[in-house]
Amino acid sequence: MKKSDIVRTLLKNRYRHAPLHSSATAYAPSNIALCKYWGKRDQELNLPVTSSLSISLANKGSFTELSLTQNPNDVVFVNGQQLDLNSSFGKRLQAYFDLFRVKSSLFFETNIKTNIPIGAGLASSACGFASMVMALNALFGWELKENELSILARLGSGSASRSLWHGFVEWRAGEQSDGLDSFGELIADTWPEFCVGLLIITEAEKEISSRVAMQRTVTTSPLYSAWPLKVKNDLSTLKRAIGSKDFRLLGETAESNALTMHATMLSAWPPVFYALPETITLMKKIWALREQGFMLFFTQDAGPNLKLLFLEKDAEAVQREFPHVDIIKPFKQTSKE
Ligand code: DP6
Repeated sequence: MKKSDIVRTLLKNRYRHAPLHSSATAYAPSNIALCKYWGKRDQELNLPVTSSLSISLANKGSFTELSLTQNPNDVVFVNGQQLDLNSSFGKRLQAYFDLFRVKSSLFFETNIKTNIPIGAGLASSACGFASMVMALNALFGWELKENELSILARLGSGSASRSLWHGFVEWRAGEQSDGLDSFGELIADTWPEFCVGLLIITEAEKEISSRVAMQRTVTTSPLYSAWPLKVKNDLSTLKRAIGSKDFRLLGETAESNALTMHATMLSAWPPVFYALPETITLMKKIWALREQGFMLFFTQDAGPNLKLLFLEKDAEAVQREFPHVDIIKPFKQTSKE
């Protein structure tokens, strides 16, 4: 099935030949998975092998301003700089816009402002596509439901399906081949003391995209067959930990889930290894601090940077131990700038 078929199904009776407004702006937070999405059952539609669960990063995310342009092509600015539409991200964006061009002469001017490093494993594409979908919805006046917006965001990037909300979000894998049952859903529980610390080792773009790395893992890793069961167990444990505010259980499960994901990549061929020497040094420091009774855990995505998980009462100590950490309070800082 093609992406355009899904868009047609969702926008049936909602297409307008002219947008409702001259421009629209939307914000979406970035998100970090506590139980990872790693592997697709459908590469075209970004349908995952397993469900996943994330925490949104409050005021770290993307604003997208969208309008139509008279130019005979799309124009995209990222943080004030014009994007080369022949770059890989430029091509990906144009292909995404193609899905929503109600007539072939319709082109978009897009201004994306993001306050997280792009392509460094900090889910910049997740908040980018989620804010884009919300801006499209507002521009055209589609009035889509949240699950429909999540499906459209997923067509841009899988993890974008979880970036439409603040807080904990579960993306259910779904079973249908059209993916209309594969979308994110907000988990109602809040946890005001919950903190995430960004430990940025490098803002450089990753050498291998998560898209390529996850497909290589699915097709070549002998460990991948163990991953779906690991996720199934971790997801139910995480939901239990969130429901009972059991931070140790949450931290241990999230860290173990990330390490298992990286173990599947390491056993892929050619191997995928995102860590830098500093990543390993930091992991060992976190483990040593935990030995001393510190309730501190980490997770790692498709890049060398780590994200710390801890409670607010330990924020000062975390800042002392990791002077460059950027601390986010997902349930307290949901203002948009
Ligand atoms: C390691 O969502 O970037 O961050 O669907 O191909 O765009 P595509 O992949 P993407 O992969 C995210 C991978 C991850 C884990 C996660 O966010 O769940």
